[in-house]
Amino acid sequence: MQLYVDSANLADIRAAAALGCISGVTTNPSLLAKEDPTLDIKELILDIHRTIGGHVSVEVVSTDTDGMLREADAILEWFPDATIKIPFIPAGLSAVRNLANRDIPTNVTLLFTANQAVIAANAGATYVSVFLGRLDDISTDGVQAVRDTCEIWDVHGYESQIIAASIRNPLHLLECAKAGAHIATVPYKVLLQSMKHPLTDSGLKSFLDDHAKMMTAKGA
Ligand code: E4P
Repeated sequence: MQLYVDSANLADIRAAAALGCISGVTTNPSLLAKEDPTLDIKELILDIHRTIGGHVSVEVVSTDTDGMLREADAILEWFPDATIKIPFIPAGLSAVRNLANRDIPTNVTLLFTANQAVIAANAGATYVSVFLGRLDDISTDGVQAVRDTCEIWDVHGYESQIIAASIRNPLHLLECAKAGAHIATVPYKVLLQSMKHPLTDSGLKSFLDDHAKMMTAKGA
């Protein structure tokens, strides 16, 4: 399972990129709105891409097909490597089909069921983003939606990549990896939480203490 960072915060993305384990970034209008409103969105996205060097999903905000396609074309003019993120609404599906026919990668967002993912895959989505945290927020098992999607992918061999999105904690990450999601997009904070283990910290401390003792004994 590949790891993306779900963020528009350049400091977090830089820190995540430095770890060497991140293959992409997903953004959305809400993540962008959390950043300094004076920032130029184009420049920020290009900076993110320069930092991460891989996948960057950029979301459209139109709700009609023509508007989405105009936005996609405009984004691709200044950022030809963009993956166009499109909401799962009927107008969005038509836009996905149009972009797929032109070999332009798309990430269909705001999916909450495996059925929605199947429909997006049939429209030609390159990526399908299943939002599990928001399902948990309304007392519905979000991981199960990812499991169902992965099970269907195993049966039918759909080519779209499954992105586990709206990940809120390390257990979400673990369960999505076990389910077989191709990608998990995680907030930087969850990435750090997932790296942390007290035995790693205490183990390193013992190694360093023992090394220091040995050096002292040698008179080094
Ligand atoms: C993914 O593409 C979305 O941007 C994201 O995962 C949404 O997460 P949230 O539910 O924490 O806002």
